[in-house]
Amino acid sequence: MHVEPQARLTEIEPKCNYTGFTVWFTGLSGAGKSTISQILTREFQRRGIKHEILDGDVVRTHLSKGLGFSKEDRDINIRRIGFVCHLLTRNHVVAIAAAISPYRAVRDEVRQMIGHFVEVFVKAPLEVCEERDVKGLYKKARAGEIKEFTGISDPYEEPLNPEVICETHRETPEQSAEKILSKLRELGYIEW
Ligand code: ADX
Repeated sequence: MHVEPQARLTEIEPKCNYTGFTVWFTGLSGAGKSTISQILTREFQRRGIKHEILDGDVVRTHLSKGLGFSKEDRDINIRRIGFVCHLLTRNHVVAIAAAISPYRAVRDEVRQMIGHFVEVFVKAPLEVCEERDVKGLYKKARAGEIKEFTGISDPYEEPLNPEVICETHRETPEQSAEKILSKLRELGYIEW
C-alpha cells in the first residue's frame, strides 16, 4: 500500500502570528458586549490564538465579589479587570474585557497600563437596550427597584476616540466581530 507520510501535515490549519493585546468592550448593559466577545472567542480559537475573557457579570461573582455599583466600586472593578488584562497581555495572551466600564478616566488609566489596547465602543441607543432588556433589569431600574443603574439613574461616559465602534442596532454580531478583527489586522496585532 502506498502511504504519503506528509499528506496529513497539510491538513493542519496554519496558525496565525499574533502578539498580546487587550480588546476592551465598553457600553450599556444589553448593548451586546458579551455576544460579540463570544464570537471573537470563536475567531481566536480558529486561529490558534490564546485568549481569555473577563466578563463583568462573571468577574463580579469572584474577583470582584462583594463590590456594588457606586462610582468607587465600579472603578475598583475596572482596575482589577485591567490589571488581569495587563498580566495576560504582557505574557502574549489576548485578553477580552466586557464590562460596562462607564467612566472614561479609569478606562484611560487601564489603557495606559496595558499599552496594546483596543477600545471597542458597543454603541446601541438606550431605548434599544431597554427594549431588549435581556435580564429584566431595565424594568426593575425604571420601577426604582435597582438604584444607580447605568443609563437610567447612573452615568455612562462615551469613549471619545475608540478604536472600533459597533452599532449593534444596525449590524449583526458577526459584522461587529469582523470590524474588530479588521482593526486588529490593521494595527498589526494579528496576521489574519
Ligand atoms: S461596571 O460598571 O463595573 O463595569 P459590570 O459590567 O461589571 O459594571 O457589571 C454590569 C452588570 O451588572 C450588568 O450587565 C447587570 O447585569 C448588572 N447590574 C446590576 N446592577 C447594576 C447597576 N446598578 N448598573 C449596571 N449594571 C448592573
